[in-house]
Amino acid sequence: MQIQSKINKLIALREEAALGGGEKRIEAQHKRGKYTARERIDMLLDEGSFEEFDMFVTHRNTNFDMDKTHFLGDGVITGHGTIDGRVVFLYSQDFTVFGGSLSETYAKKICKIMDQAMLVGAPLIGINDSGGARIQEGVNSLAGYAEIFQRNIMASGVIPQISAIFGPCAGGAVYSPALTDFVIMSDQTSNMFVTGPKVAKAVTGEDISIEDLGGANVHSSKSGVSYFRADDEEEGILIIRKLIEYFPQNNLEDPIQTVCDDPIDRMDDDLNEIIPENPNQPYDMKDVIYTLVDNQEFLESQRRWAKNIITGFAKFNGMPTGIVANQPNYLAGVLDINSSRKAARFVRFCDAFNIPILTLVDVPGFLPGSIQEHNGIISNGAKLLFAYGEATVPKVTITLRKSYGGAHDVMSCKQLRGDFNYAWPTAEIAVMGAKGAIEVLEGKKLASMSPEEALKFVTEKEEEYTELFANPYEAARYGYIDDVIEPRNTRFRVIRAFSTLSTKKQNNPPKKHGNIPL
Ligand code: HXC
Repeated sequence: MQIQSKINKLIALREEAALGGGEKRIEAQHKRGKYTARERIDMLLDEGSFEEFDMFVTHRNTNFDMDKTHFLGDGVITGHGTIDGRVVFLYSQDFTVFGGSLSETYAKKICKIMDQAMLVGAPLIGINDSGGARIQEGVNSLAGYAEIFQRNIMASGVIPQISAIFGPCAGGAVYSPALTDFVIMSDQTSNMFVTGPKVAKAVTGEDISIEDLGGANVHSSKSGVSYFRADDEEEGILIIRKLIEYFPQNNLEDPIQTVCDDPIDRMDDDLNEIIPENPNQPYDMKDVIYTLVDNQEFLESQRRWAKNIITGFAKFNGMPTGIVANQPNYLAGVLDINSSRKAARFVRFCDAFNIPILTLVDVPGFLPGSIQEHNGIISNGAKLLFAYGEATVPKVTITLRKSYGGAHDVMSCKQLRGDFNYAWPTAEIAVMGAKGAIEVLEGKKLASMSPEEALKFVTEKEEEYTELFANPYEAARYGYIDDVIEPRNTRFRVIRAFSTLSTKKQNNPPKKHGNIPL
């Protein structure tokens, strides 16, 4: 064969591969409101940066007449490219080929790029759109999934792993995304479930739609499985690009500091007024966050789930930082099972990838009652305690208002190796709020009083208690708070604290791994 004809053959094969399952199925994919696997890669990566691997791989199955049908690439596109110049490895499942279902060779392609991502120390991104195990391949498909899971587990805490779900993700296939650090689901076009609506109906009699069982809404507001619900795939892709900006390439590197044009000593007079006079009145912690961070940019994770705690990424003087903050605007910012789990996982991600953590505290305590107790608030609250106590990244804590009881300890207090712990003058650091304290301490006396006497007594005692305990100075007197700062100067103090802490070195004792109360 002449050289030119050999080259022409290559070009023809590439063109064939580019068509995936063919024009008809591409059209059907578009009709479903979805992009193709290749279009998604084009949107995600820097232009021209994608290098594809294993384009010529086909399956080896001969059952069910499968030897008569082959598609180049076998239903998944794999390779590497760059996002804002930084290397990432990725795979993108192609629903136009056998419904994106996973075969033995398909799994091998994914495993190859996972191994390469680990060798190079670069993030891994998986775009999921698949009917799950390729039915014709039987146990080989199950084995293929398990190969991927094992690699997800080994990569956890070594390279950042992000999963986008832009179509179906069913059965055991859900466990690869679940093992990764962040899951993004596109609204109305994606779903995740271990068993689908038909099986649910057959086994339990429950009649439920696919969207209500495992759509993006459900997983971003009820189960917490999805960290971001994107309005569409374009937004989902933007979120992936944004996340990568906050992450280092791997656990041995620091996140990348960028140039900051927002003055580091910007005073925010509004913050001096933001805490309401009435301690029971809420305010929006997000107003505080947006005021403090560079250029009001905050990427909130799990925004719709466990809204009593806020988690997300921002920059301070260009340095990526994780923020954990109680939200007085939702359930008074109380800690409960879901908010503890949410924040614990976030803290552990930041710690694994050297991202400093800012904690903003306004917490009245743990949510009381049998629902919480019987569902394990003890072990779930302990997750957050464990995560903070184990974290060795720079930790700056600011108490804005309430910090009561066990919740005070959990929210990155000094003794959990909080590095710099500041309080606003409005802080109330105590065992419990004035009302509860008076009831416990003076209950017997109150019972013997007339209602008028009791009211007068309680008011006086509350004032006394507030004067004594509901302030930052009692904690500051013992050095549990390093400094009481003026709210409007908080941005500068945070930036200076993290700058001072940038060379922090701290190691935990050598061990195989801890035993976080899962
Ligand atoms: C082989 C599959 C397939 C699969 C879809 N296809 N799923 N081929 N194995 N698992 C093929 C279809 O035959 C069809 O081929 C094409 O993909 C598109 O599928 P449609 O059904 O036409 O599309 P749609 O109506 O959009 O429905 C999509 C779907 C549905 C909801 C994903 O196909 C479906 O329910 N598939 C089965 C899902 C499932 O039960 N998977 C196993 C889960 S258990 P043609 O040639 O017509 O284009 C699992 C175990 C993993 O995955 C275990 C890991 C530990």
